[in-house]
Amino acid sequence: MGRKITDSVTWVGKIDWELKKFHGEDYSTHRGSSYNSYLIKDEKTALIDTVWAPFAEEFVEDLKKVIDLAEIDYVIANHGEIDHSGGLVALMREIPNTPIYCTENAIKSLKGQFHEDWNFVTVKTGDTLSLGKKTLTFVEAPMLHWPDSMFEYLDGDAILFSNDAFGQHYATELLYNDLVDQAELYQEAIKYYANILTPFSRLVVRKIEEVLSFNLPLNMICPSHGVIWRKDPVQIVENYMKWANNYQEDQVTIVYDTMWEGTRKMAEAIAEGIGRASNGTPVKLYNAGKIDKNDIVTEIFKSKAVLFGSPTVNKGILAPLSGMLHEVKGLAFKNKKAAVFGTYGWSGESIDVLGKMVEEAGFEIIQPGLKKLWSPDDLSLNDCREFGKAFASKL
Ligand code: FEO
Repeated sequence: MGRKITDSVTWVGKIDWELKKFHGEDYSTHRGSSYNSYLIKDEKTALIDTVWAPFAEEFVEDLKKVIDLAEIDYVIANHGEIDHSGGLVALMREIPNTPIYCTENAIKSLKGQFHEDWNFVTVKTGDTLSLGKKTLTFVEAPMLHWPDSMFEYLDGDAILFSNDAFGQHYATELLYNDLVDQAELYQEAIKYYANILTPFSRLVVRKIEEVLSFNLPLNMICPSHGVIWRKDPVQIVENYMKWANNYQEDQVTIVYDTMWEGTRKMAEAIAEGIGRASNGTPVKLYNAGKIDKNDIVTEIFKSKAVLFGSPTVNKGILAPLSGMLHEVKGLAFKNKKAAVFGTYGWSGESIDVLGKMVEEAGFEIIQPGLKKLWSPDDLSLNDCREFGKAFASKL
């Protein structure tokens, strides 16, 4: 138990290999996750964050193998969400008078969840905590991603403890960014940004610019999930700046749902048309009823344009697509072009309903929707190809 990161910092978190869903059922974690807690031993000792509540007792027992809990002088709670604060109840039962350093908002979130009157010490940006030879400097990071979020910087070791920011839901025993599969790491980092941080992109840019303006040396970024960025830690900061700035790649995504395969056939014919008309732009198709929601959100985030398709059902659209658009609206993606399509048998409202939802979700509709009666025949599928070609020509 405990993995030494520097002479003074030890990782004391929990790797959760079994986690497949996070935030209830809202976020898929195909590669598990970790809850990173860090122990800093200098003349004084500080513990940064804890772990998710189900692992609280295990965390405290393991921590006892690394340090006599009575030697912990300060607990630092960077964020009140229970994947990081869930171990506090078990920990504070053992060391009830130890001060907990956190933001004013974190006192609200911690008291609101645990109903305990712990010895809270409020900190603001620029406040410092001397540990002896080394000092922690706090930086409030509201809305990255909760109003209570906070980072701190440890001088000497030049480590930024960034809590959720720069994290990934990625279980690994390897601990560091340079040791893991780079494609897996990138995929989990961008998925995390797309699904959790996109609505706060303006604040991400502002906070990064603020931290960079301090001109501090940076050896490592230690987030609260996934790997520690020790090799070229600025790479994830640069990626965040890219992702926060109306990010798009040369990609078109088609998200559809289908009852009796008609809308699927339309989607595939449209993809064919886009493929023929564009110069190497990848087109990816996802059935919203079958494919993981968070993976589709990530692909939408990466796309410059998205087509949405649904047949008409009960004068509207199919529920999985409706849920997807509700999610996407909340994430407030910017700078993405769109069009809609779908089959119908009787009344045919789906493309109007869908078009309105897509616009409300912030997309720019660049051509009228395409609807086809019953199962599309060869003529209809040719129209779909032409629809795809026309769409591609407008990108
Ligand atoms: Fe916002 Fe990892 O908790």
